[in-house]
Amino acid sequence: MKQVTIALAKGRLGEKGLELFKNTEMEIIKDKNSRKLVFENQEESITYIFVKPSDVITYVEKGVADLGIVGKDMILEEDKEVYELMDLDYGKCYFAIAGFKDQTTVKKNDVLRIASKYPNYVKRIFKDRGQRVEVIKLGGSIELAPVIGLSDLIVDIVETGNTLRENGLVVLEKLDSISARLIANKSSYRLKNKSIKRILKIIGGDQ
Ligand code: PRP
Repeated sequence: MKQVTIALAKGRLGEKGLELFKNTEMEIIKDKNSRKLVFENQEESITYIFVKPSDVITYVEKGVADLGIVGKDMILEEDKEVYELMDLDYGKCYFAIAGFKDQTTVKKNDVLRIASKYPNYVKRIFKDRGQRVEVIKLGGSIELAPVIGLSDLIVDIVETGNTLRENGLVVLEKLDSISARLIANKSSYRLKNKSIKRILKIIGGDQ
């Protein structure tokens, strides 16, 4: 088996990703509170690296990780050359345009101000509609932006809807569905195909 490195997101998405390998020969024992970033299962030639969720796709595209587990939101935001191999069917949520009840998502001949963690995605969505936008990129607490007058609307991920509700906002329009995806570096997929297919089989992929 060729050495395969898998990039997992620090936090819930990565911990759940690790669970896919539980009770298989590729399992590693990791304390949830551990600050260690590299875990190896030498017998199975597999290495897990833990990185910032938004960086998983970069590690895979650059080829320092052969595989990665990443939210579809990051795939839609980052224009990166990777293969999307499998929908892992967890981490489910969706992108939405949100704002105050009865608010419109159109501003004819004017600029809509939209706060988001996903500027590229927002620009693409509104470009397709011919709506001019000013994207205000924030790192988090997006729901605060319209409440405090920083933006007209937000584009963000919605899971339970609690954050919107508790801040007096509603979903005005549902956009793409999101879940965790297994991605592969394009060269690795060719050069380490046998090893990658074995991993896919272990985690329930059909290949
Ligand atoms: C995410 C997202 C929403 C919230 C949606 O934020 O940006 O704010 O979760 O979840 P809900 O529909 O279940 O309320 P995150 O928890 O990552 O925090 P952040 O504000 O730091 O981005």
